[in-house]
Amino acid sequence: MRRILVCVLFFICLFSPSWVKSLSPSLNDDVLGLVVFKAEIQDPEGKLSSWNEDDDSPCNNWVGVKCNPRSNRVSDLVLDGFGLSGKLGRGLIQLQFLQKLSLVRNNLTGSISLSFSQLSNLRVLDLSENSFSGPIESDFFRQCGSLRSISLAKNKFSGQIPESLGSCSTLASLNFSGNEFSGLLPSALWSLQGLRLLDLSDNLLEGEIPKGIDGLSNLRGISLRNNHFTGGVPDGIGDCLYLRSVDLSENSLSEGLPSTMQKLALCNDLVLYKNGFTGELPEWIGEMRSLETLELSENNFSGQIPDAMGKLQSLKVLNFSKNGLTGSMPESMSNCLNLLVLDVSHNSLTGNLPSWILKLGLQQVLFSDNRLSGSMGSFLASSTENSRRKVVILDVSQNKLSGEIPSAVGDLSGLQLLNMSRNSLVGSLPASIGQLKTLEILDLSENQLHDSIPLDIGSATSLKELTLEKNSLRGNIPSSIGNCSSLISLSLAHNEISGSIPTSLSKPANLQIVDFSFNQLTGTLPKQLVNLVHLQSFNISHNQLNGELPAGGFFNTIAPSSVSDNPSLCGAPVNRSCPTVLPKPIVLNPNSTDATPGTISQSFHRGKKILSISSLIAIGAAASIFIGVIAITVLNLRVRASTSHSAAALTFSGGDDFSQSPTTDGNSGKLVMFSGEPDFSTGAHALLNKDCELGRGGFGAVYRTMLKDGRSVAIKKLTVSSLVKSQEDFEREVKNLGKVRHGYLVALEGYYWTPSLQLLIYEFVSGGDLYKHLHEGSGGKTLHWNERFNIILGAAKGLAHLHQMNIIHYNLKSSNILIDSSGEPKIADYGLARLLPMLDRYVLSSKIQSALGYMAPEFACRTVKITEKCDVYGFGVLVLEIVTGKRPVEYMEDDVVVLCDMIRGSLEDGKVEDCVDDRLQGKFPAEEAIPVMKLGLICTSQVPSNRPDMAEVVNILELIRCPSEGQDESG
Ligand SMILES: *[C@@H]1O[C@H](CO)[C@@H](O)[C@H](O)[C@H]1NC(C)=O
Ligand SMILES: *[C@@H]1O[C@H](CO)[C@@H](O)[C@H](O)[C@H]1NC(C)=O
Ligand SMILES: *[C@@H]1O[C@H](CO)[C@@H](O)[C@H](O)[C@H]1NC(C)=O
Repeated sequence: MRRILVCVLFFICLFSPSWVKSLSPSLNDDVLGLVVFKAEIQDPEGKLSSWNEDDDSPCNNWVGVKCNPRSNRVSDLVLDGFGLSGKLGRGLIQLQFLQKLSLVRNNLTGSISLSFSQLSNLRVLDLSENSFSGPIESDFFRQCGSLRSISLAKNKFSGQIPESLGSCSTLASLNFSGNEFSGLLPSALWSLQGLRLLDLSDNLLEGEIPKGIDGLSNLRGISLRNNHFTGGVPDGIGDCLYLRSVDLSENSLSEGLPSTMQKLALCNDLVLYKNGFTGELPEWIGEMRSLETLELSENNFSGQIPDAMGKLQSLKVLNFSKNGLTGSMPESMSNCLNLLVLDVSHNSLTGNLPSWILKLGLQQVLFSDNRLSGSMGSFLASSTENSRRKVVILDVSQNKLSGEIPSAVGDLSGLQLLNMSRNSLVGSLPASIGQLKTLEILDLSENQLHDSIPLDIGSATSLKELTLEKNSLRGNIPSSIGNCSSLISLSLAHNEISGSIPTSLSKPANLQIVDFSFNQLTGTLPKQLVNLVHLQSFNISHNQLNGELPAGGFFNTIAPSSVSDNPSLCGAPVNRSCPTVLPKPIVLNPNSTDATPGTISQSFHRGKKILSISSLIAIGAAASIFIGVIAITVLNLRVRASTSHSAAALTFSGGDDFSQSPTTDGNSGKLVMFSGEPDFSTGAHALLNKDCELGRGGFGAVYRTMLKDGRSVAIKKLTVSSLVKSQEDFEREVKNLGKVRHGYLVALEGYYWTPSLQLLIYEFVSGGDLYKHLHEGSGGKTLHWNERFNIILGAAKGLAHLHQMNIIHYNLKSSNILIDSSGEPKIADYGLARLLPMLDRYVLSSKIQSALGYMAPEFACRTVKITEKCDVYGFGVLVLEIVTGKRPVEYMEDDVVVLCDMIRGSLEDGKVEDCVDDRLQGKFPAEEAIPVMKLGLICTSQVPSNRPDMAEVVNILELIRCPSEGQDESG
């Protein structure tokens, strides 16, 4: 019943509350008002759940509600921090006896729809820290006769502060801070004689501070901070005799300070920073005896600091920084016995570093950027042990201090920041620095310190920033630096530090910035540095470091400028491959009896030697022993009974040196053909017959065999058995490869698996491989230009398809490009690296990518991720090989010619046409051959990201082909 009534009333009262009241006099106005208020806002935290509309009175247990015990009417409503949102409705105006309304820290929005004419008893209104917005209606304050305190701070109110404020004659506290109020101050403000607190800070107010300020004779505190006020401070301020706190900072006030201010004898805080005040600091400042905080920084004050400063015995915080003050610090200030913070940085003060400073027991001493002279020694000597311990911040940087850093600096045991940079300090860094257990920032840069960094630095375990750059420090980086476990930033740049970078540097887990540039560091970088996961910058440029950059983490993306000028450093960022797995510096051993590539010895600059080519051959040989096993297992499937013995015998019937008998562990193999049943008619014989060997690649030998239907297949026996993954992984990967079907790719038709032996069954391609066609003159026939171009384009399309399926070939080379009966290319052996347990760069580059000359440079750099761009490199080499008919690396009498380097050279000399295969001379269109060679060179860019992707390559090739389309070069 009541519920319905409230509902009806809720709507009615929006229009005429008094009418409602007369209509149902029995209903408690307060319950009605509060229920309506609650209905109009959101209360996501359910804070107002105790407000029960069926209660007769809100006075007993409604949260936030307080009543006058005599009248039983609501006097206080305090809902601070209740998380309320929504708009303030008109419900509250029912609370006619309300004296205090406080809704601090909620999310209320909209404008304030209250009216002092109804809330005529309201004394305290605090709406601070909400999201109220909009201008305040001009007659909002018209009937605020009872108001004592109003705060609208930290909302989004805008517009002018209404003139009607003058009606609040009893107002004592006004806080409109942190809004967007603009325009001039209302003149009525100065008639509020009872005002004690005026806070208009952080608004957009402008104009001059009115002269009428002297009307506010009861003012205790005024803050106009961070507005756009201009002009000078009015003389009248001196009549506000009770002022304790004056904050006019962050405005555009100018002129000198009015001398009337000296009457403000009760003033504790005078805060005027960031204005345009000018003139000398007045002597009368000494009359403001109560001053505890004097902040005059960022103004244009000039002249000397007055002697009268010594009278300010209550002074705790003095900030004169960023002015134009000259002369020396007055000796009288040694009387400021309560001083804790002294900041006179960025002035032009001269004289000695005042010796009385430390005697006072200051916590913060900031003298940076002046012209002070003298030595740290005498500065410290004048202090007492007790006062030394109190200093927390000591910044004397950018002065003219000289002499050595005294060992007594270790007595400043409470220091957190010590900055003596940019002076003329000499000598060494005292070991006592290690006694500064709370020191977080130590900056001694740009002095003339020499000798080595003391081991004791490791005892300063709170150090976060250590900056010693631009001195003449020598010796090693002490490994104890790793004990500074809080270290975030370390700069030792521009010194003469030698030795190697200690491994312990990887210990401070939060290290972000390291600068060792311009020193004489040697040795290799500790691999452990990759453990520094927060590293943002690691500058070791201009040293003599060598070896490989650490691989992984930050070092994969280190900027080249951070590592430059270390002649022996290698890795992708320095654009220099590491010699350990570098394919290029290969020389033919002229003393070798056999000049096939198998006996090439690689000459390495330095570092660990990888498997030699001859040991690779040995591995290959050992692996082929398993051929016997293949024979047996494949055979077992079909011809289970009698032939197995003879099969093994047949295998190596050609007088091979493989004399071991085949192992028999492969009996329980699994054969899978992707398209139906296997049907090996001649099975064993064909497989085992050495005459049917088609070739050998990095992954194993390939044999031809025939299915029952007469169709040939090629069987590849993997020689990387020991490296192959689990059966499950192997089968998954192989099945994936089996799904790749494309006209320019050799199809994988099936596989055979035992733990020790794996076979891959491929489509048989009849025309032999490209290597033979190019370099062994297949039947005396030379490939014509058009045939070569077709092969290039076909291979590009095949490769592009692979990449589209996210398969990297890893092993592209001319012997892996098969030519079918119609002369079209088919790429073989793709993706086999995926059968290995992991894409180990070492295995890839040393065992599989044994195709020298095709291997992309990033294989040599562990810091670069291997992407499909390594195939683009191999393709580029292949293109050049096809066009020139030369091997990627040719071994001459006593010289090694790397194909792409040679062509690059010819291109620069303008003789690139001469590079085209001699057998084609006069029979190729230069307008195709030259762009094709250029494309090949682009594909062989050293930096992977500079290479195009294969889809682009296909497009480019088709564009190159266009002009001479159809013009058959059959001659
Ligand atoms: C209040 O507003 C603030 C800022 O928009 C928001 O982060 C907070 O979650 C809001 N609180 C409630 C209770 O809605
Ligand atoms: C004004 O209100 C803000 C926000 O509540 C507060 O931080 C500030 O101290 C108040 N100003 C004065 C002078 O009390
Ligand atoms: C080849 O043999 C000669 C004479 O024994 C020797 O001086 C030379 O260093 C050898 N060269 C290489 C590359 O091993």
